[in-house]
Amino acid sequence: MSKVRVNLKERSYDVLIGKGMLGRLPRLAKGRRIVIITDYTVGALYGKKLSKKLGACLLQLPPGEITKSIAGTSVIYDKLIELGINRDGLIIALGGGVIGDLAGFTAGTYLRGINIIQVPTTLLAMVDAAIGGKTAINHPKGKNLIGVFHQPKQVVVDIDTLNTLPSRELKGGLAEVIKYGFIKDPGILKMLSGNPQVNSNFWIKLITRCAAIKAEVVSKDERETTGYRMILNFGHTIGHAIEAVGGFKKFSHGEAVGLGMLAAAKISGKREAEAKLVMLLKALKLPTTVKLKVKDLLLALKLDKKARSGKVRFVLPVKIGQVTIKDNVPEAKVVSVLKELGCS
Ligand code: NAD
Ligand code: GLY
Repeated sequence: MSKVRVNLKERSYDVLIGKGMLGRLPRLAKGRRIVIITDYTVGALYGKKLSKKLGACLLQLPPGEITKSIAGTSVIYDKLIELGINRDGLIIALGGGVIGDLAGFTAGTYLRGINIIQVPTTLLAMVDAAIGGKTAINHPKGKNLIGVFHQPKQVVVDIDTLNTLPSRELKGGLAEVIKYGFIKDPGILKMLSGNPQVNSNFWIKLITRCAAIKAEVVSKDERETTGYRMILNFGHTIGHAIEAVGGFKKFSHGEAVGLGMLAAAKISGKREAEAKLVMLLKALKLPTTVKLKVKDLLLALKLDKKARSGKVRFVLPVKIGQVTIKDNVPEAKVVSVLKELGCS
């Protein structure tokens, strides 16, 4: 097992990464009234067994982004109130980023905040969503528009849960892993290159390196006030626009982030970064072209909440392992890069 510390004074916590970690939860969560929040897929695979072991209530919701809503939140509030859960209670978020964000938001707002342990079961949630305390639900007008910062008490990553993860989800998570290689740690890209032996040690090492970067960034800029945390959005400016214009169906989050990173590399003009990215995306069979309308993407970029005073912010590579933030990229440059990627 490996351990990464998120240093946030009285809100500090550990990310524990290893095999068989679900089996260790009873000790970690002892003495509390527990409600496990999950979706039907993860509930059937892991939730039922875990809730029996913990003597916990299991609340299962439909999988998918649609559940990350005010309606989904209401279902959980109702259950917590019905069970008489007070501030000593504990929520366990068992699932991907959807469940992590939804359960995190509910835990952060119910009784002005109760404890939560994040137990991510997708690669994306293991390396990103479960760590750092950003929680949110969607509004019909946009994704993640309603949220609160609420740090978990612990993040418990059981790499065995990756064995059941569909390959499209795994590849999406790998796009976020690539992101960490480009923003901070080129060693991560080395781990992915060639023909790595994908075993438990590989996953523990890879997830630990990513979690360590996320922990460092969050520890320095918990609430994104200095702008440093923004580096985690490498690939997400154009990525979110691609996701939105594709109706959140055409491209998964990871696929869109891969394309967004490629667009950012092209905007920066850093050829080495672009070539490395194309090589990695192709090796993982992630898309390197996108056929959407430029005008739709430009509109989505402007609506994105990262646009400040009418300006769109981009995280751009300086070199592999270092990025910078720019809000003065000419629109004409964005248009030409989108056309290079296959948009019309
Ligand atoms: P997800 O939570 O929708 O999970 C993807 C699918 O995989 C679901 O159908 C789920 O049922 C299934 N699944 C999960 N674990 C499984 C397992 N071990 N075996 C089999 N199936 C499994 O998607 P995601 O990619 O994990 O998360 C995306 C969400 O995360 C988005 O809503 C995004 O906004 C959010 N997010 C949040 C942050 C943050 O910092 N809070 C960061 C990144 C993404
Ligand atoms: N996923 C981006 C962040 O946590 O800031």
